[in-house]
Amino acid sequence: MEKITSLAKRRGFIYPGSSIYGGLGGIWDYGPLGTELKRNIKNEYWRNMVQLRGDVVGVDASIIMHQRVWEASGHLESFTDPLAECTKCKKRFRADHIGNTCPECGGKLGEPRRFNLLVETHLGALEDKRQAAYLRGEITQGVHTNFKNVLDSTRVQIPFGIAQIGKAFRNEITPGQLTFRSREFEQMELQFYIKPEEKEARKWYEYWKNERINWYENLGIRPENMRWRQHKPDERAHYARDAWDIEYRLESEWKEFEGIHNRGDWDLKRHQEHSGEDMRYTDPDTGENYLPWIIETSGGVDRAALFLLIDAYNEEEVGSETRIVLKLHPKLAPYKTAVFPLLANKPELVKKAKGVYNTLKQRWMAAWDDRGNIGKRYRYQDESGTPFCVTVDFDSLEHDDVTVRDRDTMKQERVKIGELEHYLEEKLK
Ligand code: GAP
Repeated sequence: MEKITSLAKRRGFIYPGSSIYGGLGGIWDYGPLGTELKRNIKNEYWRNMVQLRGDVVGVDASIIMHQRVWEASGHLESFTDPLAECTKCKKRFRADHIGNTCPECGGKLGEPRRFNLLVETHLGALEDKRQAAYLRGEITQGVHTNFKNVLDSTRVQIPFGIAQIGKAFRNEITPGQLTFRSREFEQMELQFYIKPEEKEARKWYEYWKNERINWYENLGIRPENMRWRQHKPDERAHYARDAWDIEYRLESEWKEFEGIHNRGDWDLKRHQEHSGEDMRYTDPDTGENYLPWIIETSGGVDRAALFLLIDAYNEEEVGSETRIVLKLHPKLAPYKTAVFPLLANKPELVKKAKGVYNTLKQRWMAAWDDRGNIGKRYRYQDESGTPFCVTVDFDSLEHDDVTVRDRDTMKQERVKIGELEHYLEEKLK
């Protein structure tokens, strides 16, 4: 983790939030490369979960919702973690993560109490009449409260899903392990509405479990670092009839990566009760009315970015040096290619290389680098996860070709400039 934290900062993936003011616990910023990585993860998610399917649509709901949403969803009452305070140093810990003594000072821990994780804010311009509100603790409720809107404004029919990606906020008692447990983070979720039948639920549950674990594996999470774990009845969230986590092995401990939940009709029923709106679905063929059940897949974008970085990280001995290389899936790599003129002080090389760069950046995120020597530029791009580096040298002026260097094999090939786009397109597939 230390190596990843250092690389993340050094190469501009992840910085501590508000760092010039000493930082803020559990709050992180993404730098230029991290922003691209996260965007690529979200784009892949959207493409896979919405655009390539015919049975899922998307919404983008607001972060702040009516206070009563959280009453109805059960979060005001049950979205809690057990908190224990040290009687000596007053530090606070997740009671379910430690024993009876304070890990900081060895003092005795007090009786655990339930601590609500919702982050509060206030809305309105009149100070004495400002309305209390919450930043959403899960992005889910913005989907369920729009269930009827989606039904009424689109052609969807059960079974169908609504996907969403967006920020969630939790007053985590002990944030930590870089972005693993943050207070502000992003979730990518699917709420899949089905007929309220056990057989249907089992079928779709298995289907989505497979889809989700395969998605991570295809993007480069190592299979040996993932496993399934079913929640025991007493650890399930208040809304869940069944819950399985994809867990990831982080620093030799298994940690939650994504949750697949059978939420039954919990959300729609509660919103129906609390709002008075009829949330039932009418089957267009049979005329049957019912409250659908929901199979949910809920993953963290930040956790995905972190675990993908960890699994892509490699150290290799090359000659007498250690090469650090991020073998990110080309779909996720922040830059797909980097273009260099062999020498920065030769205008004819710079001109030709700029031409190549300007062409490539129309198609892909391309980096330009003319600083230092080629070896240093390769090392920089290896640490950034750039799959291909393209160098324009003196032969290029004569033969109209370039050297393409592969990040993973370090092999170099001469490619005609006219064929470069096609060459990269094939390689980046
Ligand atoms: N709608 C269901 C839900 O929110 P959850 O298990 O509480 O379920 C889903 O959260 C996912 O969101 C987690 O599996 C994790 O990937 C991500 N997540 C939850 N809390 C997080 C935190 N404090 N920091 C980063 N990611 C978090």
